[in-house]
Amino acid sequence: MLRTEISKVVAGEAVTICGWVKTVRDSKNLSFIELNDGSTFSNVQIVLDKTRELGDLTDALQTGACLKVSGKAVINPNNNKVEIEAGRITVLGKSRDDYPIQKKHQTLEFLRTMPHLRVRTNTFLAMFRLRSSLSLAIHKFFAGRGFHYVHPPIITGSDGEGAGEMFKVTTIGHSLKYKTEEEYNKADFFGKFAGLSVTGQMEGEIMAMSLGKIYTFAPTFRAENSQTARHAAEFWMIEPEVAFCELPEIIEIAESMIKFITKEVLEKCPEEIAFFERFYEKGLTDKLKNLVSSDFAKIDYKDAIKALEKSGKNFNYPVKFGLDLQTEHERYICEQLFGKPTFVINYPKDVKAFYMKQNPDGVTVAATDLLVPGVGEIIGCSERETDYNKLVAEITSRKMDIEQYREYLDLRLFGSAPHSGFGLGLERMLMYITGIGNIRDTQICPRAAGELK
Ligand code: 4AD
Ligand code: MG
Repeated sequence: MLRTEISKVVAGEAVTICGWVKTVRDSKNLSFIELNDGSTFSNVQIVLDKTRELGDLTDALQTGACLKVSGKAVINPNNNKVEIEAGRITVLGKSRDDYPIQKKHQTLEFLRTMPHLRVRTNTFLAMFRLRSSLSLAIHKFFAGRGFHYVHPPIITGSDGEGAGEMFKVTTIGHSLKYKTEEEYNKADFFGKFAGLSVTGQMEGEIMAMSLGKIYTFAPTFRAENSQTARHAAEFWMIEPEVAFCELPEIIEIAESMIKFITKEVLEKCPEEIAFFERFYEKGLTDKLKNLVSSDFAKIDYKDAIKALEKSGKNFNYPVKFGLDLQTEHERYICEQLFGKPTFVINYPKDVKAFYMKQNPDGVTVAATDLLVPGVGEIIGCSERETDYNKLVAEITSRKMDIEQYREYLDLRLFGSAPHSGFGLGLERMLMYITGIGNIRDTQICPRAAGELK
């Protein structure tokens, strides 16, 4: 279809554009339609002179309708913006009076009930345009540093986090035929247990032992039954893995990446950020600019515990060394204590995954979480244990199925190297960049326990 994208319309030219009707205003002789085709965040105004022969406009003046408009692009002297003086309007797709998104300010909860239509609202147009830019910025960062982009499998036989939060993949429906789980798994499609990947790290480590510096950017699945505003059952994770790299170096990479991608988004999506600042988080732009220009805070886990104890706050989860930090603690540390992104370093071994490198103290691991104000953890990061025996001991004492980790363990037997990596949750990063408080509003179709739209 011959058309010009709305973002490319230039004043003075005759154009044909297509798009969806956002709002309609009507007066005696003129009607105004706000139209958008996704090529730009701001709508273009279509001016319809009702004294001209434009035919029956009833269907065109309907919120939600899809139109093709031919006309002349002119500058509106009142706001200096380009608008279209309509010459001819074709309705490509009618809407109806009961189009559900009529009012300007509908709640995010209400909009969640209609994922197929909410994407046409300003909030979600901004979110998904920004999500696209952020994803490209991530690729740009890693490409600029010579990382290879690798694609881990989605169906896997090993629980890479060892946390028992995998969705099972099966082709066997309801059946009473099998007496044990083992029998059931044997009869199943792969002849053994299979699940959806909770992390690409296992394969990331394999690839780093050949390609040196790699990253994955892939869907990730967690069957966690937590109904929080920051947990999704399906989300996207970016996982770099770097050979010959110890904890301080991977922390530097994580900090540089967050700064780089934030700067890119500030440059590429100023209108979207201004929108989120206006409707969702006051001071958002300054927050993001400060992030780009100042160092992140760093605190040892044990000092963070001391600070939490000294805070005088009444936390739901009592604070003591050995505690797995909860959102309330994470937020106190990065919001009250430092007021900026904070790396908490050297967590106790027992609250972290089996693969993290054990520190000489025998109690902690060379791991860090990056916590950000308003969200909490956005990155989980560690140097990896390379000692075969220590890994076997961890896997065994955690009662994990060692057969799932044979290849992972093999890497420690054949040309092992110090290496480190991290995982950034894409949606958590989006929450931070937009000020949107619920992860469900960063995804097209959010998935959580009991929620599948
Ligand atoms: O801390 P996590 O579980 O770490 C890993 O998966 C490691 N394998 C990463 C690595 O070292 N390669 O998850 C990493 C990040 C979290 O910090 C969070 O941002 C995000 O993934 N995340 C989730 N995001 C949304 N919903 C969930 N249920 C999430 N679980 C983790
Ligand atoms: Mg984590």
